[in-house]
Amino acid sequence: MNDIINEILKLKKEKNAVILAHNYQIGEIQDIADFVGDSLGLSQQAAKTGAEIIAFCGVHFMAETASIISPNKKVLLPDLEAGCSLAATINADQLREWKQKFPDAVVVSYVNTTAEVKAESDYCVTSSNAVKVVEAIPPGKKILFLPDKFLGQYVSAITGREIEIWNGACHVHEKIGDIDFGEAEKVHSQAEFLIHPECGCSTSCMLKSQMYHDCRNVHIYSTEGMIGYVEKSDAKEFVIATEVGILHRMKKIKPSAEFFPISDKSVCEYMKMITVEKLYESLLYDRYEIKVPDEVARRARLPIERMLSIV
Ligand code: 13P
Ligand code: SF4
Repeated sequence: MNDIINEILKLKKEKNAVILAHNYQIGEIQDIADFVGDSLGLSQQAAKTGAEIIAFCGVHFMAETASIISPNKKVLLPDLEAGCSLAATINADQLREWKQKFPDAVVVSYVNTTAEVKAESDYCVTSSNAVKVVEAIPPGKKILFLPDKFLGQYVSAITGREIEIWNGACHVHEKIGDIDFGEAEKVHSQAEFLIHPECGCSTSCMLKSQMYHDCRNVHIYSTEGMIGYVEKSDAKEFVIATEVGILHRMKKIKPSAEFFPISDKSVCEYMKMITVEKLYESLLYDRYEIKVPDEVARRARLPIERMLSIV
């Protein structure tokens, strides 16, 4: 393994590349990356990097977003099959049809969408800034939120806004909603519970915790929000309700604490398609370059830039 890692580091230097990795990537990829973060952090890094090549260790929509923000950079995704079940729940035709029913509405799209869907949107959001972006939209405006119904319900509950929500969900996080948290609370009675807003249970957990005041140990965060919380918290035990890859980074940040996934079956097979070998071949052969057609990229850039300017 060391040989291939050394080769990756050599290629990275020779080709002036940067390696960006999402918090759900396998540990070896996280360890080799220049930056590990959530969707928002990765977009921000893609926007400001001076590197000529971005090797994107994440899923397709993330690499597309990087390519839209940095059209002059070569964005590589080591495996083209690394998709996203949530992004696949809506396409541009479906969104156009939905918009026709609400012609005056503002369209807020989660970053987990294709470039074509972003091109039909007014604002992009990630799980860490969705509330902030929705709060920035004038109160009287109708909002169409897509594609994640759980994030949409969560944003609606926090902001008090009535929102039309697309009926999409991520197959990994939706299943977390079926888990009996009561059992986990009994086993880990001293633990802090960190829950991603894409989870099928995030809204009920939030209501249960009465907007955080009553039940101090339940917190809803994006993946990077969870990392920030772990860094600051004095807790010795955490139960994590999101994709299991994030535990690698948490254990590195706080080796003195114990981390338990709410389910060890919460694995995103798309995120796990990126391996060290594929990253090496990606840098060696410049593959697979993610390019968004100019016209789509031009229209998709605006909602992404609006999002980046609000946070
Ligand atoms: P974050 O933006 O919180 O990293 O989430 C991305 C994602 O795909 C969650 O499943
Ligand atoms: Fe998409 Fe779900 Fe995987 Fe995130 S965890 S990339 S939302 S399929």
